[in-house]
Amino acid sequence: MKDNILPIKGHQVILGSRPHGLPKENDFEIKEFQVERPKKGEILIETHYLSADPFQRMRLNSSSGYGKTINLGETIKGRIAGKVIISENPEFNIGDFVEGMLGWKTYAISDGSNSRAEYAPGITKIDLNKAPISAWLGILGFPGITAYFSLIETGKLKKGNTVVVSAAAGAVGSIVGQIAKISDCKVIGITGSERKVDYLINKLNFTYAINYTEGNISKKIKKFAPDGIDIFIDNTGGPIADEVYENLRLNARVVLVGNISQNNQKNEIQRRDLQNMIMRTRATVAGFIVYDFEKRADEAREKLSSWIKEKKIRYDQTLEFGIENAPKAFISMLNGGNIGKQLIRLPVSIKENT
Ligand SMILES: NC(=O)c1ccc[n+]([C@@H]2O[C@H](COP(=O)([O-])OP(=O)(O)OC[C@H]3O[C@@H](n4cnc5c(N)ncnc54)[C@H](OP(=O)(O)O)[C@@H]3O)[C@@H](O)[C@H]2O)c1
Repeated sequence: MKDNILPIKGHQVILGSRPHGLPKENDFEIKEFQVERPKKGEILIETHYLSADPFQRMRLNSSSGYGKTINLGETIKGRIAGKVIISENPEFNIGDFVEGMLGWKTYAISDGSNSRAEYAPGITKIDLNKAPISAWLGILGFPGITAYFSLIETGKLKKGNTVVVSAAAGAVGSIVGQIAKISDCKVIGITGSERKVDYLINKLNFTYAINYTEGNISKKIKKFAPDGIDIFIDNTGGPIADEVYENLRLNARVVLVGNISQNNQKNEIQRRDLQNMIMRTRATVAGFIVYDFEKRADEAREKLSSWIKEKKIRYDQTLEFGIENAPKAFISMLNGGNIGKQLIRLPVSIKENT
């Protein structure tokens, strides 16, 4: 065996074929690989959790809109969290936990930098005093940082506002709604099932929740917020967003965070004249990309972890087990099978508090 090869076999998920519409499990393949020894400056990480995120769906298209596309045969781009098992970098000790965009693999090498923009191999050290390892892919990871800054900074949250959030029971939406609620706002969540409506009202304390599959979204918002809404954190785009726009109040803020409803579409859909509604309400519409807040991520983490400790915010997770089930978990998340953050846990000896 060559010097740079370790006697360890890893597994990775690769793209076998490009999906059209909702991906199928056989669009993905599990491939074995020989784990390499990290070079000077690098670390080797044993993966404990894979993260399943909507942005990965866009990367499966031949042209992904923003960010690089994944080529056939390439490892699925995705965030992971795990333990450092070999360190050739003085900044990291064996046993440290880290998180980063290192791809869906059971072992990964990082250069140890903290450059986290798009596909940089950089990582963030996990501080277990703030929250367990899995939370660093959810509430203390990009979903939580997205929720925090999209609502507070871009959405200009004010006490007493009426806030609408779509994909409300998911990783981003569930945190948006809870932050708004503890900021004394009226919160209306839009989600895709009665089970999730019940979760939003009874577990997360949202003021109102709407099941979009039953239709009449605009009418229901009008009933819950007769004076209109101040902030719309849009995670879905598409027809759900169209109905929310009809309820914008004067000087409302709309933050375009995601358009998951369009990600699995085969054809473009007809749009209504949304520009007219924006003009009439003098609403401010802003696009949001979490990487713009990368340098301020710790500010969000401090606040979010203190809310967790004070039991003001809860974070739920939907777990699948084993790398072979990662595609299944991803497709289930795209179909609304998750409550909170969708993760895949790998069979490593994870201590109770991690
Ligand atoms: N701009 C950024 O920097 C940034 C960063 C992170 C995430 N995002 C975006 O934020 C959104 C939420 O991400 P997340 O990680 O929190 O995912 P998530 O909400 O945990 O999971 C996705 C959810 O989307 C909903 N959904 C799927 N298809 C839908 C459809 N056709 N219409 C309406 N809802 C649909 C499902 O919930 P239901 O059961 O309710 O349908 C599903 O559970 C995504 O659009 C994502 O791309 C953006």
